[in-house]
Amino acid sequence: MGLFIVFEGVEGSGKSTQSRELYRRLQKAELEAVLIREPGGTPTAEYVRDWLIGGHDISPLTELLLFSATRASLVESVIRPALSKGEIVVCDRYIYSTLAYQGYGRGMDMGAIDNLNGIATGGLEPELVVLLDLPPDIGFQRKRGGDPNDRFEREDLAFHQRVHEGYNALAANDPKRWLVLDASLPMESLASAIWDRVLEIQAER
Ligand code: TYD
Repeated sequence: MGLFIVFEGVEGSGKSTQSRELYRRLQKAELEAVLIREPGGTPTAEYVRDWLIGGHDISPLTELLLFSATRASLVESVIRPALSKGEIVVCDRYIYSTLAYQGYGRGMDMGAIDNLNGIATGGLEPELVVLLDLPPDIGFQRKRGGDPNDRFEREDLAFHQRVHEGYNALAANDPKRWLVLDASLPMESLASAIWDRVLEIQAER
């Protein structure tokens, strides 16, 4: 069985940079690895992604179901097959984004989200969740105000603060699985801390 690693955090927290860096290190160490992002990673999910991020007239329920649908497609066609070949899967966002954004951010029912997450993934959870913790106002400054066509970046600061608090609550509930790092640290120290934890998990298996 492979190893499943997920990156989470608010906009501008550096998840994409750190997930790419981890993937680079895994390749350098000659470990078979796959790098994916949510929503996306399959042709269907990439198609829906554009609409989910930039579309109009999407209600919170439609949004929740679309994230679940793209996740189901990614788990079935990419994540499970890679894990069963013994590969390491690095995924930029996963079920915790739905709990943080649709649950804490939009205020949708957490129990319903938990159920949908379970259905979409067949209960597949990662061995490690790296949370790049950053106050959302700093994240926005990094993104220089954000993309006006991105439905999430257009949300107000209060929304992103709820998302941020949500992430911290999720991490506090499951401290063994979550590695919480201060995203304002230099890129290289973050990458080393993540790498050390991955090696530690590999050594324990
Ligand atoms: P993306 O451009 O990939 O943002 P980032 O670089 O910050 O990851 O857009 C993904 C957006 O979708 C992001 O704003 C968070 C949101 N999202 C949810 O609201 N729920 C989810 O379940 C997922 C996977 C993403």
